[in-house]
Amino acid sequence: MAYALVTGASRGIGRALAVALAQRGYDLLLVARSEDQLRALAQEISANHQRQSHLLALDLAAPGAAETVAAWALAHTKELAVLVNNAGYGLWGRFEQLGLAAQQNMLQLNMLLPVALTHALLPALRQQPRAYILNVASTAAYQAVPSLTLYAASKAFLLSFSRGLRYELKDTPVSVTCLSPGATTTAFADRAGMGAELQKTAAKVSMAPEAVAQIAVQALLAGEVEVIPGLLNKVSVGLTSVVPKKLTEKIAAGIYEKYL
Ligand SMILES: NC(=O)c1ccc[n+]([C@@H]2O[C@H](COP(=O)([O-])OP(=O)(O)OC[C@H]3O[C@@H](n4cnc5c(N)ncnc54)[C@H](OP(=O)(O)O)[C@@H]3O)[C@@H](O)[C@H]2O)c1
Repeated sequence: MAYALVTGASRGIGRALAVALAQRGYDLLLVARSEDQLRALAQEISANHQRQSHLLALDLAAPGAAETVAAWALAHTKELAVLVNNAGYGLWGRFEQLGLAAQQNMLQLNMLLPVALTHALLPALRQQPRAYILNVASTAAYQAVPSLTLYAASKAFLLSFSRGLRYELKDTPVSVTCLSPGATTTAFADRAGMGAELQKTAAKVSMAPEAVAQIAVQALLAGEVEVIPGLLNKVSVGLTSVVPKKLTEKIAAGIYEKYL
């Protein structure tokens, strides 16, 4: 049976994507740092969906991580048909005030890891009759977001990378899709260091990761280029192409800088 590899599968959107792929018949290769959570997910996938999983507990921001993951994946299967570049996080705060090393670690995980992993696994994906790459960006990919400045820039990179690569691969069996969720109920806001007030505001418009994952996997397997789950997120992204950038940035600053 064909395998799907999901980075950042231990919780949140990545976990939900792994379950949604298992529901559609894929066996799973699960990667994140939290081994216990990966093990619990593998058990759930086996019990509820009768699919096999292998897990790798690894810091994906560490040097050589992509090579390690690729070698491990290819040792487990010759039928890798889905690559989900999901692992990622944000850092909330002004660029000048956040530490440079912390921001560079985020860029490594959000941008360079997906690039290296995709490069290492594309030859295997091309061997399949049909294969899919899902890059998890964000609605923040579509505009600058003050106080999430580098996070938004890293997601804009992923969106552009996805579109360019998709075009390059148009005559191959590999389809590339970029998923851009808006606020989703996961550990994201905590990890980003967002305060309680901002989290309360975000909670009002947050989607469940399971809903995001179902929409994403359907779009992925349909070969869609960009998927923005939820009407509110679609509308807010739609506005970025008609409203002047100065205004969208002011609105974003009003939300994200208010509680800094
Ligand atoms: N939640 C939102 O509001 C939202 C909105 C738009 C986009 N996104 C994007 O969605 C993706 C998933 O985020 P989430 O919301 O599900 O957040 P989350 O609950 O914090 O999950 C992040 C996942 O990435 C893994 N991860 C983080 N750092 C890692 C590292 N150094 N090495 C290996 N794995 C690592 C985590 O596992 P371990 O901690 O076990 O390593 C976890 O499985 C991210 O790319 C995020 O930018 C989220």
